[in-house]
Amino acid sequence: MTTPASTSAPTASDDPAAPLRIRSDDRTARGEGLIARWADRIDVDDATPRLTIGEGGTPLVHARRLSERLGVELHLKLELANPTGSFKDRGMCVAVARAVQAGATTLICASTGNTSASAAAFAAAAGLQCVVIVPTGKIAAGKLLQAQVAGALVIQIDGSFDDGLAAVRELSTRPGIALVNSVNEYRIEGQKTGAFEVVEDLGGTAPDWLCIPVGNAGNITAYWRGFTELHASGELTSLPRLLGVQAAGAAPLVDGHDIERPETLATAIRIGRPARGDQALAAVADSRGQLRKRTDEQLVEAYALLAKDAGIFCEPASAISVAGLIDAIHDGTIARGSRVVCVLTGHGLKDPDTAATIVQPTIACGPSAAAIAAVIDANA
Ligand code: F0G
Repeated sequence: MTTPASTSAPTASDDPAAPLRIRSDDRTARGEGLIARWADRIDVDDATPRLTIGEGGTPLVHARRLSERLGVELHLKLELANPTGSFKDRGMCVAVARAVQAGATTLICASTGNTSASAAAFAAAAGLQCVVIVPTGKIAAGKLLQAQVAGALVIQIDGSFDDGLAAVRELSTRPGIALVNSVNEYRIEGQKTGAFEVVEDLGGTAPDWLCIPVGNAGNITAYWRGFTELHASGELTSLPRLLGVQAAGAAPLVDGHDIERPETLATAIRIGRPARGDQALAAVADSRGQLRKRTDEQLVEAYALLAKDAGIFCEPASAISVAGLIDAIHDGTIARGSRVVCVLTGHGLKDPDTAATIVQPTIACGPSAAAIAAVIDANA
């Protein structure tokens, strides 16, 4: 697949005054942002501001040790490398640019944490107000701080994410307010670029399987849109199968009904009434894929494995994609040798409390080399 022409960013080859680009086609890596890079493939126009905080262009890493252990060719899409530490920045970039274009003065969203961190950051960059609604006590510490640091008005409700989403849908009818949850189409438009990047990095092909956590079901919908658009244009000859993974205590799509009181330690995906549930089900069916659920214990195992076997510290919700993969390999759904991409949606540092539950205690020691050597030898 070729990178589309952009109205901005002349390349070194066509403008001698332009800065040197090692890869003249790779604009995202140069900080010009997702909209500039993908303008002719996402729903923006010439008047849409090229708002960016450096989103997109995240690495796809071949996890060699983990691949060997699991018996598949495993690639990790490091969405945790986005500027606010989650995939939300892709869609938020487009949603906020479009909100600015439409004359909005305030952004509003309900969130389990990452959407609010991203909305607050883009609001700051665009000079807008931001109001975020989060469930009291059910948001990781880092995410809450991110929204606060960026100057958002953070309202904690005595209710779930689903309650918050219902409320902000009502509030967004007020003049000047833009709703930036993934019910906003521009969010999906931005997030589908994750699929474009996966295809680019796999040399113009799709993986056999794409494993992805499912909460409000926006991201799985977006990836499927990205892959199917490339397929429709003839740039991709085969489509991946989707493995969507939910937490066992918050698995409305697997269980087939809404969950009134969803519970999981992966608070990011603690959602009982996914707004794009029907689209997620359709995407999974169209891809001949599957939805699965995994317990908190199983996702914590995968979370620790990613950190210790691949060196990747993601947040618990992200690791459920790998927990689902392990299960699907065990029961033969995903064949040995398959090429698999797991989307690691958010950074581990956002949730230090969960991380603290899987680590060894630190060791106190005197400052001398001899004392330190004794500790090293005792733990060898
Ligand atoms: N992974 C992480 C780290 C998330 O924060 C989310 C959703 C998901 C996966 C699921 O993505 O909702 O598109 O199916 N977080 C939202 C939020 C709900 O408010 O930050 P989804």
